[in-house]
Amino acid sequence: MKLENKKILITGGAGFIGSHLVDKLVGMGNEIVVVDNLAAGKIEFLSNCRDKIQIENVDLGEPEALSPVLEGSDVVVHLAANPMVNIGDDETRLHIDSNIMLTFNLLECMRKNDVSTLAFASTSTVYGEPTEVPTPETYGPLIPLSLYAASKLSCEAMISAYCYIYGMRTVMYRFANVIGPRSTHGVIFDFVNKLKANPNALEILGREPGTRKSYIHIADCVGGIVHAFENSQERVGIFNVGSEDSIDVRTIADIVCKELNLKDVNYKWTGGVDDGRGWKGDVKTMLLDIDKLKGLGWRPLHNSSEAVGLTAKELAKG
Ligand SMILES: NC(=O)c1ccc[n+]([C@@H]2O[C@H](COP(=O)([O-])OP(=O)(O)OC[C@H]3O[C@@H](n4cnc5c(N)ncnc54)[C@H](O)[C@@H]3O)[C@@H](O)[C@H]2O)c1
Repeated sequence: MKLENKKILITGGAGFIGSHLVDKLVGMGNEIVVVDNLAAGKIEFLSNCRDKIQIENVDLGEPEALSPVLEGSDVVVHLAANPMVNIGDDETRLHIDSNIMLTFNLLECMRKNDVSTLAFASTSTVYGEPTEVPTPETYGPLIPLSLYAASKLSCEAMISAYCYIYGMRTVMYRFANVIGPRSTHGVIFDFVNKLKANPNALEILGREPGTRKSYIHIADCVGGIVHAFENSQERVGIFNVGSEDSIDVRTIADIVCKELNLKDVNYKWTGGVDDGRGWKGDVKTMLLDIDKLKGLGWRPLHNSSEAVGLTAKELAKG
């Protein structure tokens, strides 16, 4: 389905990925409804197209408020979630409530309002620590290491079941680490802010040289979201969206320092947990096989290092 002249509801549309996707889809001539409770999202992220879109401050935890807004949508893009992997021991319900239950509420609302097409933001963390790297979408069994990953995998399973039982169609994206302007969490965001506060020293979670993962710039990510959606022919289409390489945390720190024109910064590694991970549930190595999406004609324009460099520059300005 082409994303032109469609009515598209985007949950979490005022967040990092969501606001960039809104910019892109408005530019493609779509009517956009943003549903966001502004827990993490910000209205100013939507300033490029504020007068062209409908913004609804609705919590997906309240389905009765969602239903009238959803009515008449051609497509729903579901990005609203709590995206934090690193949570405390007293927060074990967090991802059940904010990811699994919100997705269930949305699916029920879609079913009752005859809205049948859903794009969903899943994550590379559903693969856990795969033995096959780069990891293709067909890899299994999926053994998540974190409650965040477990919640996203649960959502994937539930969405798949709704598609088969209720005639819906979905495209689900397993994103690598998405980075760029307007991000409000993650390693680059963390480093830039720490270095702004203290340009002489940088605390780094984990053990040197840190985890090794793939990073994708938001511009590439948004292009991948649209391309997979428009070209997938499957009832349940699952796509990895990442760049073609990976880098370690030490290299990220070096790139960020270079972009901020800082020399001789004293790196202070915390040592981490569970064999040098940044936190419990952190994945040590992640690189996605993106051949499936490339086979549909999509290519990321930036590799991981370029994406990190661009992001550091963009965040340093902000
Ligand atoms: N950023 C990444 O690297 C990455 C990687 C893999 C997957 N994802 C997924 O992509 C999606 C977007 O991530 P992001 O980085 O833009 O995060 P984000 O926190 O910037 O965006 C999430 C948005 O959802 C909204 N939201 C949260 N709970 C809500 C609720 N109950 N009702 C309505 N709105 C609610 C927040 O206010 C926020 O605007 C998430 O589902 C995340 O799990 C992100």
